[in-house]
Amino acid sequence: MSLVELEMPETSLTFSASKDAPEHPRSTMNVVVVGPPGAGKGTQADQLSRWLGVPHVASGDFFRAELRAGTPLGLQAQTFLDKGMLVPDDLTTNMILERIRRPDCAAGVVLDGYPRTLPQARALDEAFRTKGLGRKIDLVLMLMVSEDTVLHRMMDRISCANCGKVYNLRYAPPKEPGICDRCGHALYIRSDDKIATLQERLSIYRQETKPMIEYYQGRGLVDLVDGEQDMDAVFAALRERVVAHQ
Ligand code: AP5
Repeated sequence: MSLVELEMPETSLTFSASKDAPEHPRSTMNVVVVGPPGAGKGTQADQLSRWLGVPHVASGDFFRAELRAGTPLGLQAQTFLDKGMLVPDDLTTNMILERIRRPDCAAGVVLDGYPRTLPQARALDEAFRTKGLGRKIDLVLMLMVSEDTVLHRMMDRISCANCGKVYNLRYAPPKEPGICDRCGHALYIRSDDKIATLQERLSIYRQETKPMIEYYQGRGLVDLVDGEQDMDAVFAALRERVVAHQ
């Protein structure tokens, strides 16, 4: 089974699956959740942000919302999303910086899907340093999931267009078919969850995101979590890693 993630030295593999992680995260923390498409970043970042009490900022969700609203940014992003390609770095970085400058992010943020290239990570650092954001990335949590697994997960994914909650027909179905448990809106299949597009997204992940993860790894910020486990076990492992970094 080929792994999508980086080749890491044995010593850096700190898998952890205990469900007994302490429940007292510190109040200010900026966390990035990374991993291949379909690894469970959105699922876990959503829970993590609620647990930490800070916003979940997901670049993909932003682009899809802009697209639904028919804004110029959404229309610009559409071509890239439909082909499984990355939206240009400057467009993406401006959008995310605008979001994390808002007061509700002052106590921290869980970033999901951003940064995902080396230029984006550098631009974020630069903005943190120079634009009065007064913060830094504290922890990068990387979900380790095989390519086979992510393909299976994405083929069964359905999402809520309104609140962004993600379901899986096999592993996490909604209580009522086609309806979001959280907000009651209709669920839909993402237009980029087609096999050809998925392969392209995986290929881009290997080429563009690997150098970004290495950049954070060089700063000792990356912690690996076994994303093949069930959702609760992954979440328990993530909480454990957060607590360990306080
Ligand atoms: P984005 O929305 O960020 O897509 P992605 O990174 O490809 O990740 P996904 O959202 O597909 O998967 P996920 O890891 O969040 O998994 P999920 O939790 O849904 O980006 C989309 C597009 O926007 C990009 O292709 C690009 O065009 C553009 N874009 C976004 N950010 C950009 C950036 N920074 N720069 C440039 N362009 C950008 O889970 C997947 C499924 O698995 C679900 O059904 C879920 O229920 C299920 N599942 C989750 N965990 C488990 C588990 N442990 N066991 C079983 N099933 C599970």
